[in-house]
Amino acid sequence: MITGFLHMHSALRWVALVLLVLVVAKALGGRSGNKPFTEGQKKLGLFTMIALHLQLVLGLLLYMMRGWIGMLGQEGTMSNSYTRFFAVEHITIMLVAIVLGTLGHSLSKRASGDQAKYKKQALFFGLCLLLVLAGIPWPFREGFEQVGWF
Ligand code: HEM
Repeated sequence: MITGFLHMHSALRWVALVLLVLVVAKALGGRSGNKPFTEGQKKLGLFTMIALHLQLVLGLLLYMMRGWIGMLGQEGTMSNSYTRFFAVEHITIMLVAIVLGTLGHSLSKRASGDQAKYKKQALFFGLCLLLVLAGIPWPFREGFEQVGWF
């Protein structure tokens, strides 16, 4: 079961990334083109937020089931870049990213005026995208060669 969750969490990164790129690109396009804010764009923001929240649930389960929570406070965890990454860095970066993504949807929903809605989406989902890209254990990163692409 843990392996299944890990595969799901790994594959869902692509769904979250594609949705984030789409929502940011369309928000920037809508803003610069002075376009009306559509129901489709609102739904795109909602689905992006749902994908991020699914990652949060899977990530929290993995954090507990894979024993990372127990690594906190253990000697050696912080001096090893791999254990420090999963025990502290990945969860911290992704939690901040998911909060920003949630704000991207909820603040845009509450904003008055189409341009203000696009602006909130572009800003908050844009920052979220940057953090998600920075927080992923990409296999090209030193020490993470064994982590897969999918
Ligand atoms: C958009 C948000 C996130 C993305 C894109 C993401 C992406 C990833 C990726 C690509 C992996 C490597 C999977 C593999 O080994 O094949 C991973 C592992 C992991 N992530 Fe996330 N993650 C996100 C959020 C979170 C959050 C919020 C948490 C914790 C609350 C979390 C906890 C973990 C854990 C515990 C692992 C497993 C490390 C291991 O035991 O090998 N992730 N994540």
